[in-house]
This record gives sequence, structure tokens and C-alpha cells, in this order.
Amino acid sequence: MAKKKNKKKTMAQRADRHALYQESVQDSEFELDFVQDTYKDIRGHKPVTLREDFAGTARSACVWTKRGKDNEAWAVDFDEEVLEWGRKHNYDKLKAKQQERVHFLQSDVRTVVTPQVDVVLAFNFSYWILKQRADLLAYLKSVHSTLKDDGIMFLDAFGGSEAHTTQVEKHKLDGFNYLWDQNKYNPLTQEMQCYIHFRFPDKSKLDKAFSYSWRLWGGQEIDDLLIEAGFSKVRFFVQLFDDDGDAMDEFEETRDVTDHECWIAYIVAEK
Ligand SMILES: C[S@@+](CC[C@H](N)C(=O)[O-])C[C@H]1O[C@@H](n2cnc3c(N)ncnc32)[C@H](O)[C@@H]1O
Repeated sequence: MAKKKNKKKTMAQRADRHALYQESVQDSEFELDFVQDTYKDIRGHKPVTLREDFAGTARSACVWTKRGKDNEAWAVDFDEEVLEWGRKHNYDKLKAKQQERVHFLQSDVRTVVTPQVDVVLAFNFSYWILKQRADLLAYLKSVHSTLKDDGIMFLDAFGGSEAHTTQVEKHKLDGFNYLWDQNKYNPLTQEMQCYIHFRFPDKSKLDKAFSYSWRLWGGQEIDDLLIEAGFSKVRFFVQLFDDDGDAMDEFEETRDVTDHECWIAYIVAEK
């Protein structure tokens, strides 16, 4: 019997959704530059220990250990499949000494127990999976208790009129297109259903490669919850736009946001 030839598979069938995610969504180097610089500006010394919540492939935790010989990281995610991918593709590429300083924890971020750390990350809006106020507050309180006395939590958020609607945003990348699909939005509850799709030059598709059921939390709501959870100060660093209206790789500390159709910000919460 003739063997099936691999070349008959479409690009979508050959694609690895986690690799595509890391290429299109996550920029750990940029995020960790921001984390290190901002922490040092506020505290006057460099952070060393970091917990990556909602870690997925644990990319940021792995990159963290490459940035300093004492840097240590804990990556927390409750999905064994994505953590396993991270072990194979991110962790296995580290040197032995770096591997000793990364810890994978398959656990719920709301109940996980880790040593106290300088920094906790909750990036790419993942905490929006917590839709009830009490649930998000309990999570933020647990993060507060896991931070050292001078620890800082880093989160992100987006908003603006485009966030409060259904729409599909297409980005051309090297060898594939990435689509951000705000598929459903309930303006009463601010619950949204979003997907990531990928499209390939051979016209094949990887639809609903990732699915997110979120509550679109407002900036002020998040600020209030962080303060209620015990954080002493909350800062917003908002992404800047150039004169053509294109987003730049620059974030400015401000609360005075103009009425753009879209804003993205890092949120920095000091213990
Ligand atoms: C959008 S990915 C984030 C990946 C990466 N950290 C980033 O910044 O792009 C969200 C991850 O959160 C995980 N997750 C969702 N709820 C969780 C929970 N309560 N506890 C632990 N992990 C959770 C999912 O399994 C998924 O891997």
C-alpha cells in the first residue's frame, strides 16, 4: 500500500498553533524589557524572581532565566498540553544552568502556591477569563500575598470604542496571516467571545486556533480592584501612536487618554 505523502497536507494541517501564537501575539523580549526597566525605575534595583501566570508555553519564564544568572521563574498554567509544548520548545532550548531556574506548575493561578517573588506577570489580558468581581478580587489578593514586600504585579488591558464591538482585525506576518476575531460582544455584561484564526498562502485555514471567553474589564474597574486587593499604587502606561495613527513600541505613564477607538496599556501595581 502506498504511503500517504506528507506534501499533500495543507499548510494549516502542518502548522503548529503554539508556534504561530508565539510569533504573532507574544513579544516576551519587549515585555520583559518593560518589566525590568519599570521595576528598576520604581524600586531602584533589578528584579530577580518572577512568576508568569496564565503562562501558556512559559515563553516569558524561559526568556527570564536567560537575562541574569540569578534570575528564577515560575510558570503557572492549568493546561498540561500547552505546558508540555513549552517544555519541549522553550525549556529544552535553555542551558542546563538556566533550566534549574525555571519551574513549571500545572495549576490554577487562583490557588497555586509559590515562593514570594519580585514580579508577577498576567499578560495578554488572560485574567479577563475571571468575569466575576469576587473572583478577580480573590485572584489579585492571592497575587498580592505572593509578592515580596517591594514586589510589583504587571498586567495589561485594552479598551476604546473598537473594543466594545464585534470586528475582525487582520495582520500580515511572515508566511501567514493572523486574525483577531471579536466574534461576540454583550454591551450589557461586557462579556466577549474572541478567537484567533490563522490563514496561509495555500488558502488553507486554521480557524478558532485559540478561543477566549472574557469580560472586558474597564481600566478604572481594574484600578479599583487592585487597590481593594491591597496594592498601594497603580500606574497605567499607555501605548503611544505616531502622527499617522499607527501604534508605536512606546508606552507613556498617564491616565489622561484621548478618545481613540483603541487604547492598550500596561498596568503596574506596587505592593
Ligand atoms: C492567552 S494564553 C496566555 C499566554 C501567554 N502568557 C501570553 O502572554 O501570551 C492564556 C493561558 O491561560 C491559561 N489559563 C486560563 N485560566 C487559567 C487559570 N485559572 N489558571 C491557570 N491557567 C489558566 C490557559 O490555559 C492559557 O494557556
